[in-house]
Order: sequence, then structure tokens, then C-alpha cells
Amino acid sequence: MRTLTKIILASIAVAFISVKWSTPSFQSETLQGARVLVTGASTGIGEQMAYHYARFGAQLVITARREKVLQQVVEKCLSLGAQKALYIAGDMATESDPDKVVEFTLEKLGGLDYLVLNHIGPTPFSVWKGDIEHTRWLMKVNFFSYVQMAWKALPSLEQSKGSLVIVSSLLGKMAGPFTAPYTATKFALNGFFGSLQHELAMKNSNVSLSICTLGLIDTDSAMEKVRGVIDVPAAPASEAALNIIKTGATRQEELYYPWNTFAVTLTKDWIPFATNYIIRHAYNYIP
Ligand SMILES: NC(=O)c1ccc[n+]([C@@H]2O[C@H](COP(=O)([O-])OP(=O)(O)OC[C@H]3O[C@@H](n4cnc5c(N)ncnc54)[C@H](OP(=O)(O)O)[C@@H]3O)[C@@H](O)[C@H]2O)c1
Repeated sequence: MRTLTKIILASIAVAFISVKWSTPSFQSETLQGARVLVTGASTGIGEQMAYHYARFGAQLVITARREKVLQQVVEKCLSLGAQKALYIAGDMATESDPDKVVEFTLEKLGGLDYLVLNHIGPTPFSVWKGDIEHTRWLMKVNFFSYVQMAWKALPSLEQSKGSLVIVSSLLGKMAGPFTAPYTATKFALNGFFGSLQHELAMKNSNVSLSICTLGLIDTDSAMEKVRGVIDVPAAPASEAALNIIKTGATRQEELYYPWNTFAVTLTKDWIPFATNYIIRHAYNYIP
């Protein structure tokens, strides 16, 4: 058992070091004047991404549902150095808003270099009690709108040698309890955009597609759910946001943030029984 543990730890270390070594370096100047659309940018990681892009001098469109909050984020982006910062309110559960938001961006920025899909609809952290309507709604917000916006933006990204960035989750790679609808939407994203990643590469497309796998991040919405229920350290939203931006800018196919997220995805395949045991005993919550 000791030898097995050593082999597992050594393999994780080798995989981690080789990923770090092969990562191209990030040049922030490449984002000066870049035309960027960030979804779910009124709060959390999306808001932090908007501020980073602004500091790098990008031209930004941000979107979410709450107009007043978006207005405040735009003002801050301008004060931080964004070349341009605009917002458009939209509800990603509707059929028309995903297209409307992309069309607005293309018109206002004259094209698109980065499409960063990050929004998620609110969802309870609890045992699934058969709420099919909520699951359907969440699928629209967290999955179908991503597909729709990506499809709408692809011709422009192809022209600009641009990047499509999908913000996903560890829960898109392995299931956890109390988040069944959310987990389903993230698995759908990983499946769909993983397939698209192959297709773009096989036809030598100009578009890079990055799928970002995040662990627990200290946004208000996430912390409200897990506080007192699970004792896992949360990584800072601002750093998560910067890592996502770097991943898109360096055209990498994958990001695991924080780094131990990668280790967890390996252990669930290598030692599923132990991983399942740990998952089922990590929650201070009895259904
Ligand atoms: N935080 C974590 O621990 C964590 C872990 C793994 C992965 N992630 C991923 O990271 C991304 C950001 O997470 P976060 O924690 O920053 O989320 P968040 O703080 O809850 O922000 C969600 C954003 O989506 C917007 N939104 C909600 N419903 C919407 C709708 N129907 N139409 C359009 N926009 C809508 C919200 O703004 P409005 O309310 O104004 O619409 C907000 O801007 C997500 O893709 C999430 O899955 C997060």
C-alpha cells in the first residue's frame, strides 16, 4: 500500500511538473485592445475577470441579468484602464438573449477576440427532490446558452484567430452530492465542448478552445452554500479569474485551478473506491 501511495504521488508530481513546463508564457500586452465578451460578470469570478481584462487595457462587453450591478462593474472597469467597457443585460434562460448579447458585442466592438462563457443560474445545494422544471431551466442557463453563444460567435472568432473559453468545474469531471442539476450541466459542457475541441483541432481552425476546471472558489454564492457543510479551503476568485484569462490568452486546451483539482480528477479514476469514501464522508450534512 505504501509503494502504491508513493507511485501515485510521484505520478501526480510528474504530471504536474510536465504541465507547468509545457505551458506557454503569458504576455499581458497581447490583451491591450483585445475585444472581449465575459458572461456572468456582475459578481464572482466573472466580475474579477472583467477587472483583470480592464487592467490589461481590453475592450470589454459584460453581461448578466442585473443592469444596475453591471453598470457599477463597467464604471470600475473604465477607472481601471479598459479601452472600452459596455454592458448588456440578458437572461440566458431565454431563447433570444444569448444571440442578442453576441450580436450587440459584434456591433459595438466590431468583432471578437475572446468569448468567455462563465455564467451560471442559482441552484440549491441540497438533496435532489425531483424538481424537473428547475433542472430543465438550469440546463438552459448553464448549457444551452453556452452552445448558442459559441455558435453565434465562432465565425467572428475564426476571423480574428480568437479564443473561446468555457468556465467549468471539478463537478463536470466527477459527481458530488447535493448538486445533481448543476453537476449535470457541467458534465454536458465538458462533453459538448470537449468534442468541439477535437473538431476545431482536426480542421485546423483558427479558434482555440479552453475548458477551465475549477475547484472551490471563494465567491459569495459558493461560500453561502458550503459554509459549515464542507471543510475544504476555497481559492481566491481574483486569482481564479487571472488563471482563466491566462489560459485563454495562451490558447491552452485545459486549466485546472487550484492545482490540486487535477490531482483529484486523477484519483477518482485510479482509486475510485477511496475517492467515493472520502466524498461521502466530507460533508457535515445528513440527507
Ligand atoms: N465559485 C466556485 O466555487 C466555483 C467552483 C467551480 C466552478 N465555478 C464556475 O465558475 C463560474 C463562476 O462562478 P461564480 O461562483 O463566480 O458564480 P456567481 O458568483 O454565482 O455568478 C454567477 C453570474 O451569473 C449571472 N447569472 C445568473 N443567472 C443568470 C441568467 N439566468 N442569465 C444570465 N446571467 C445569469 C449572475 O448575475 P445576475 O444574477 O445579475 O444575472 C452572476 O454574474 C461558473 O461557471 C461556475 O460553475 C465556480
